[in-house]
Amino acid sequence: MINLIRKPQSASLAFMVAGAVWFVVGAVYGMFSAIHLVAPEFLPHVAPLVFGRERPVHVNTMLYGFVGTMLTGIGLHYVPALLKTRLWSEPLGWVTFLFWNLTVLSGPLGFAFGFTQGREYNEYVWLADVSLVIAVLCMIVNVTLTIMNRREPQLYVSIWYFVATFLWTACNYPLGNVMWHPATGAMPGLIDSIFLWFWGHNLPGLLITPLATGAAYYVIPRVAKTPLNSHTLSLLGFWLLIALYSHIGGHHVLQSPIPSWLKTISVVDSISMVLPVSIVVINLWLTARFVGGRVWSDPSARLVMAGVIWYIVTCIQGPLQSLPFLQRVTHFNNWTIGHAHIAMLGFGGYIALGAMWHTLPLVSGRPVYSKRLINLQFGLLTFGLTGFFIVLTMAGLVQGTAWYNGETVLRVLPQLIPFMVMRAALGVFILTASIIGLFNVYMTLRGAREPETLRHLEEAT
Ligand code: HEM
Ligand code: HEM
Repeated sequence: MINLIRKPQSASLAFMVAGAVWFVVGAVYGMFSAIHLVAPEFLPHVAPLVFGRERPVHVNTMLYGFVGTMLTGIGLHYVPALLKTRLWSEPLGWVTFLFWNLTVLSGPLGFAFGFTQGREYNEYVWLADVSLVIAVLCMIVNVTLTIMNRREPQLYVSIWYFVATFLWTACNYPLGNVMWHPATGAMPGLIDSIFLWFWGHNLPGLLITPLATGAAYYVIPRVAKTPLNSHTLSLLGFWLLIALYSHIGGHHVLQSPIPSWLKTISVVDSISMVLPVSIVVINLWLTARFVGGRVWSDPSARLVMAGVIWYIVTCIQGPLQSLPFLQRVTHFNNWTIGHAHIAMLGFGGYIALGAMWHTLPLVSGRPVYSKRLINLQFGLLTFGLTGFFIVLTMAGLVQGTAWYNGETVLRVLPQLIPFMVMRAALGVFILTASIIGLFNVYMTLRGAREPETLRHLEEAT
């Protein structure tokens, strides 16, 4: 055991494997949620499996467990590799792993039995919050000391994103989760929605987005075998992200009586988000422009590039749905659920998976068991998610336009049945993709070490 937690890159590997496991767990809960929206009487009288409990398990397990955990594992590889050194302390990496995953585990174990703070994206109870903050602080110490020990003077943009993610989370998570009120984790009245959405927004914006962007900036130039198009541009995008993304949580509550100045800031900066997003996309695109074939024929880079395409779609849709007149139709219905899935699975999940398939051999010294299975996973995910997006957007428009015209919620419900059935059916493809992924990870780790991949491992450590 002692040897294992001292082994170079072992914490990175542990995070990636845990991410693959959480993907399956989250997808199972997603399936239960989807089935219950079609057949509420399915498995009656099983208290942990009622919609109100399984939905937060699904959402939190996917965000913190699958995407967050996997991207953190990838970062634990590329940070020391890019700095030409070792992680300062591998055992501290394992302590981070332990506390981070205890928080994620408190979802399926806690929410299912009613232990929740009941605020969307801020559901974890206080002890789980403390556990996550400990993990984040351990990571900050470990990465800072790794940077101080570096043999490479230049700090590549992926390192900026990785370090910043944990610095931001150390500040934003306790604030949004109102950790100074341990019993409720909430503020009184309307002010609570501002705090809640501060974190509800910064979870995708300043945790998932920078981790995914950092991973994409790592994988694409490596697979393209060419230097990044522009380092200056990459840092401009980094600073614009923090300047614009940190305070636009108000766009989630535009239809509530929060102060008008807050709404104005959040709408203006939501639109301006086009700038940092375009910078990332253009920079990666220009990096790969003469070697598109090489990038698209590599199964891991293809997933990353497809993630970048989902990022474009998400970030065209996002600013549009921040416009109050448009949101009057799209708010509070399945339109937003569609956006959430292309954002979290399409952008965050695709990049996490692609970068994981790229990094796994570098960390384990073993070639990926089956590239065909990666391609199959890509196909299943793309079919399932594209279907999700179309079906949920249509369902949202049916709901939104009907309500806008004075129709009651109850009378619109029957019209949603075909969409909910299709979503549940499409979920099977995503669930299957997650299981295939876990199987491929397991078989990879059972395989024999290969001299070529071991050489990469030595270079990286
Ligand atoms: C097996 C595949 C999946 C199924 C069947 C599924 C199903 C669902 C369902 C039924 C909901 C609740 C919708 C509602 O309240 O009306 C939901 C919400 C959500 N899911 Fe999934 N999901 C799946 C995969 C994923 C993945 C892979 C991710 C992220 C990586 C994800 C992220 C989310 C998020 C963020 C929400 C909350 C959306 C919001 O409140 O706007 N889901 N999902
Ligand atoms: C330019 C970028 C973006 C803008 C302006 C934007 C805007 C918005 C807006 C206005 C909403 C609220 C919709 C409503 O409730 O009516 C929303 C919801 C959401 N966004 Fe984005 N978005 C952007 C990118 C992203 C990205 C990159 C992610 C993920 C990494 C993401 C994840 C989510 C999620 C999960 C929700 C659902 C929140 C809920 O449960 O209500 N968004 N977005």
